[in-house]
Amino acid sequence: MTQDSHSTHDAEADPRNDDIKIYVNGDIVPKDQAVVSVYDSGFMLGDGMWEGMRLYDGEWAFFDDHMDRLFNSCKAVSLDIGLGREDIRDLLDRTAAANGMVTDAHCRLMITRGRKAKPFQHPALSKWGPTVVAIVEHSKPATSLQDRGIRLATVPQVRGLPNSQDPKFNSHSKLNCVIACLQAEQAGADEGLMLDPHGFVNTTNACNFFIVRGGEVWTSTGDYCMNGVTRQKVIDLCRANGIPVHEKNYSLYEAYGADEAFLTGTFGAQTPVAEIDGKPIGSGGAGPMTQRLRALYKDLVAQNVIEQHTARG
Ligand SMILES: Cc1ncc(COP(=O)(O)O)c(C=O)c1O
Repeated sequence: MTQDSHSTHDAEADPRNDDIKIYVNGDIVPKDQAVVSVYDSGFMLGDGMWEGMRLYDGEWAFFDDHMDRLFNSCKAVSLDIGLGREDIRDLLDRTAAANGMVTDAHCRLMITRGRKAKPFQHPALSKWGPTVVAIVEHSKPATSLQDRGIRLATVPQVRGLPNSQDPKFNSHSKLNCVIACLQAEQAGADEGLMLDPHGFVNTTNACNFFIVRGGEVWTSTGDYCMNGVTRQKVIDLCRANGIPVHEKNYSLYEAYGADEAFLTGTFGAQTPVAEIDGKPIGSGGAGPMTQRLRALYKDLVAQNVIEQHTARG
């Protein structure tokens, strides 16, 4: 990243992350010893799935939704996780505890097909697997992004049809998104706004994308983007609170003229968009609808944490 570029994954600097412990295949080890083989299918081919989750007051927010997506994705690519949901919760909890983390932590859980016998593509060559890694970092999204907003540039790279690589896969290979991000950066923006194969506004390279027009909240149909947990929560919150919400096709014409725009993702919750292709959106920071949805989402997280506490007894 250039010095003054930003991303929705900007976090407040935290030197404690230099010395965290990381879960690798059953062991919780210091960061500098957390390694996987160069024969690992994730390293070699991007053949694996991951989930990003946030820890709030000792609970992984919307844990069940994340597990639904992870298990569905792994089933779809015949990747046997070899662990149940509660095993995963347990390993995440133990990793957080080993680092003294209770809240303001973010985890990247990665599951690959595992170590291969030969450096080639065939999945059957992954004889030792899966590889399971959980990196849990101290993490507070940078508050400056809430005031400043993120700058988007529309990029040539699209998130495509499900019969090439289904955009719903949270796969280790993010090359499609990395290319989009590079294109955005080279255009002087922070993140890439990706269209769908028909030219409608779709998503960004790392987050889901929403606009607000005339008191209505719009997002793409969902056919060509990540089935984001935060995206769905925002849609559900709109419905529950009488805010008109539409999953629909719309073009850059409507995006440029939006009253507000914001991104959604587990890391940053709702991040305001300041400009698209150099055109200012709203006042730059979070507009009234974005602020309202942020507050509703914060309450929903708190409610989910209490529900999980209660369920665990
Ligand atoms: C391309 C893309 N879109 C959206 C998201 C946001 O998904 P979620 O809200 O489940 O964190 C992610 C995060 O994994 C992503 O990689």
